[in-house]
Parts: sequence; structure tokens; C-alpha cells
Amino acid sequence: MTNKLKYFVANWKMYGHLKSLKSLDKVVKFQKKNKKAKKIKIVYCPPFTLLYPFVQKLKNSNIKTGAQNCSFESKYGPPTGSINAKMIKSLKCEYVIIGHSEKRAKGESDQIINKKIQSALKNKLKVILCIGETLSQRKKRKTKKILFNQLNRCLKKIENKNKIIVAYEPIWSIGSGLIPKSKDLEKTLNHIEIFLINKMRFKNPIILYGGSVNPKNIMLLKKVSYLDGFLIGGASQNSNKFIDIIKKTFN
Ligand code: 13P
Repeated sequence: MTNKLKYFVANWKMYGHLKSLKSLDKVVKFQKKNKKAKKIKIVYCPPFTLLYPFVQKLKNSNIKTGAQNCSFESKYGPPTGSINAKMIKSLKCEYVIIGHSEKRAKGESDQIINKKIQSALKNKLKVILCIGETLSQRKKRKTKKILFNQLNRCLKKIENKNKIIVAYEPIWSIGSGLIPKSKDLEKTLNHIEIFLINKMRFKNPIILYGGSVNPKNIMLLKKVSYLDGFLIGGASQNSNKFIDIIKKTFN
């Protein structure tokens, strides 16, 4: 293990209901009993409907909770169907994912993401900011430019850098079973790290990788440098797979 691998964030996306709470038992037990697991950070990001039950269920454990999105509006108000950072924080949630490509695909711009980050930080939530390129952008060798543009715009005028985690999620990798070649991934992560330090004035950037992480490919992924952890979708909904992924990074 590269010691750096500390974060294991479960993004449950639009899955799960009250009965799914039961599946957390195994993970709670694992974190309590396994020495190495005590030193890592596990964060569950369920859909809004399950946020409070998750917070309640996990309150006596070391496992944290996060939302998958928040409104850019800080104040209470009329936007029907929206949930703001203040509401999320009021549940004792600590994290929020912002700028996921599945939201960007529905029209969320870097400017909106920037406002959401401001609102989340104002409400003392830690932000997991997602960035990533499409397959066609990658084929045109535009990855670096796309990522730098996203970071530049999303982090414009943001002061509190130590509350932001960046998750690199190549869009073509999400849910596809495909992951970047280790060399390519390492190069991209290195670019992101340098950009965050030199241009965005991060002191100690925390960078995650997301996209088809599973118990098989984790053996390859765990060897990649410049990584602090993983943002895991599909595989995180199955406790056995999730634990397996985490355990395999320990050896
Ligand atoms: P998968 O792990 O299902 O590819 O999802 C990745 C993701 O989008 C996490 O935010």
C-alpha cells in the first residue's frame, strides 16, 4: 500500500432504500475490528432520501456521510425539489459531492459548480469536486486542457482549499468496466496535482480516482502514484465488494 490511500468514498447514486441500511452493518464491523481500517476514511454518499437514516446508523462509527449534490442557493427559498448545503449540514453530514459528470451531463456548468462549492464551504461541508473528460476529448488529446479548465472555473475565487478533495473521474470509465492504463492515469493525476499546487494554491491536495473501481482492478489501481483514495460507484453498493476493495489496498 502506498500509505497515501486513505479515502474510500461510496457514491450510491440513485440506488437504495430503507432496507439497504442493513448492508452497512458489515462495513461498520469491518472498520471497528480491522486495525488498518481504523486509519482510513470511509464516506457514504447515499441519495438524499437516505441521508438522515445513514447519519443515524453510522453515528457511533468512524464512517462519515455525504450528499451527492446541493443547490447553489445558500438561503432557504422556493426552488421546489432542491436541497441546499445548510439543510445537508443540519443532518450532521460532513461531505458533499459536487460537479459529478452525471449532473454536468444534465446541464450543470462550471459556473454553477463554483457557486455550489462556495455555498457548501460557507456551510462547513467538505467538498468532493468531480472533474473528468469524455472519450472524444481524450482521443483528441484534450484531457489536460479540459481538466485544467474545469479546475480553473470551478475553483475561481475559492479560498478554503483545505476543505476540497478533487476526484478525477474519466467519463468514459464510469460504469463501463474500463479504467485508464496505469501510466496514463499516473500522468494525469500528476498534472492535476501540480496544477492544484502551482496554480490553485493548494498546500496538500487530496486526489481521488473514480470510474469502474472494483475488487479485481484495485490491485492495479492501488499501485498508481499521486492517489489518495477512490470514489466508488456500483461496487460500493455491495458491502462485500466494498470491503474487498478496501482490504486489497492494505496488502
Ligand atoms: P462506477 O464505480 O459505477 O463506475 O461509478 C463511478 C462514479 O461515478 C463514482 O462517483
